[in-house]
Amino acid sequence: MTVDEKRFAEASAELASHAGRLSGMHLRDVFAADPDRFSRFSLTLDDLLLDWSKSRIDDAAMEALFDAARAAGVEALRDAMFAGQPINSTEGRAVLHVALRGAPEDGFAVDGEDVMPGVHAVLDAMANFADAVRSGRLTGATGKALTDIVNIGIGGSDLGPVMVTHALAPYHDGPRLHYVSNVDGAHMADTLAGLDPRTTLFIIASKTFTTVETMTNAASARAWIAGALGEEAVGQHFAAVSTALDKVAAFGIPADRVFGFWDWVGGRYSVWSAIGLPVMIAIGADDFRAFLAGARSMDRHFRTAPLESSLPVILGLIGYWNRRVCGWPTRAVIPYDQRLDRLPAYLQQLDMESNGKGVTRDGDPVDGVTGPIVWGEPGTNGQHAFFQLIHQGTDIIPVEFILAATPHEAASGEHHPLLMANCLAQAEALMRGRTFEEALEQARDKGLSGDEAEFLARHRSFPGNRPSITILHRQLTPFALGRLIALYEHRAFVEAALFGINAYDQWGVELGKELATALLPVVKGEAKPEGRDSSTAGLVTALARLREA
Ligand code: F6P
Repeated sequence: MTVDEKRFAEASAELASHAGRLSGMHLRDVFAADPDRFSRFSLTLDDLLLDWSKSRIDDAAMEALFDAARAAGVEALRDAMFAGQPINSTEGRAVLHVALRGAPEDGFAVDGEDVMPGVHAVLDAMANFADAVRSGRLTGATGKALTDIVNIGIGGSDLGPVMVTHALAPYHDGPRLHYVSNVDGAHMADTLAGLDPRTTLFIIASKTFTTVETMTNAASARAWIAGALGEEAVGQHFAAVSTALDKVAAFGIPADRVFGFWDWVGGRYSVWSAIGLPVMIAIGADDFRAFLAGARSMDRHFRTAPLESSLPVILGLIGYWNRRVCGWPTRAVIPYDQRLDRLPAYLQQLDMESNGKGVTRDGDPVDGVTGPIVWGEPGTNGQHAFFQLIHQGTDIIPVEFILAATPHEAASGEHHPLLMANCLAQAEALMRGRTFEEALEQARDKGLSGDEAEFLARHRSFPGNRPSITILHRQLTPFALGRLIALYEHRAFVEAALFGINAYDQWGVELGKELATALLPVVKGEAKPEGRDSSTAGLVTALARLREA
């Protein structure tokens, strides 16, 4: 039995009582009383450091969290995932994105078949193709080198490569990359506006090769190439990434430009697969392999470290504590790294599509809340936008700070010290706050007195006691990025295990897709909005009127 229900119920009751007991704690006081708090509530893996000491927990609460993890079967579920068992039960699939960054000797298998030879064959084919494009050996139909790559995909077939492209800009020495995801024709039009069809290569990235946004954008791109260079040029200006190789062939993309992956790779876990092809073209195969190696180092850590010294487990437990036990509905991810500007959006899909579920693995309604709302922006920009609410608003928003010790810019001058100081200062300010007495003293120092000083002090005091986690690493290299993303993947896994849900399906996005298909003829005026609710019908009519006006 994976889950020990009785023990989990006991651990949950214990966690609730710890939360009650700790509701009176103030982080400022516990830091003052315990100089060792940082060393007790932080861990390192090589140059990666996780500091959760500014969370509202103590040793007894941590112990109960580890107990809950054991009772929820985190270790058995983790082993089942690495063993290629079909833990995605609603789709009857294995969840083996870890194999995409595995070494041949890792021997990951699905249904008894070693998947590593297939994984490495695709990686080698990608490397050959990327090298041919980068070197100019592979050209467009007119013989000109391909200077611009446009990836057409959405969700997991877009967010991962975009995020990695931004993050690894210093390693970019190949053609320019562009991404078109939105079915809004403006996205394609604005992207193509600056491009030359003779030097443009499109990559159609879609696991299913049926996603309507991607297929619509792909058809427009095809028409753009065919219109400019002729129908016969299409094959030389397209490549594709998919698990549905038959559908790709029907689109007319030659087989040697098609890179496959497998149904045991979820879309939001696919950046390590051929979905990473645009990134490989930009940074080269060696740096892409370093990105995979970073993820593999986290996989090995997750697979082998005891729960008490496992970074993904602890990150997951603190996430679970904040969300399920304390009831805080959101978490903000704030990378103090401009190049991680798309990380919050990437983590939104990773986390919210995985853990935004209301039914347990057994099909029962979940007892309690599941995944939090994930959001964020890079620091320091976020400080000048929404940090006011995090510091003094009425909701508790746990924050996750991410910071590198070393920038890529050799002559960073004051920039990087300022970035580091701001990151640490925000975490410290959230933790300490400013007491009324401190604010009053400040007001008096400014020459205010009496009611005026007290009035201002009420506005200028901060409650503090606001939890945060800080993740540090040496530098945002391909290896470090791979390791960081894998840390977040396994964190989502741990939280899903504690919630008792399947993190690997996404049925919640289906209804909207079905209704959009049904509404398409209606908004085009080819069918009446009959049988629709009055709001939808009224909006259809209003849109038609506005179009005619
Ligand atoms: O709509 C959700 C989703 O299925 C995601 O899970 C996926 O990443 C995205 O659509 C794109 O799917 P595909 O790669 O099959 O085009």
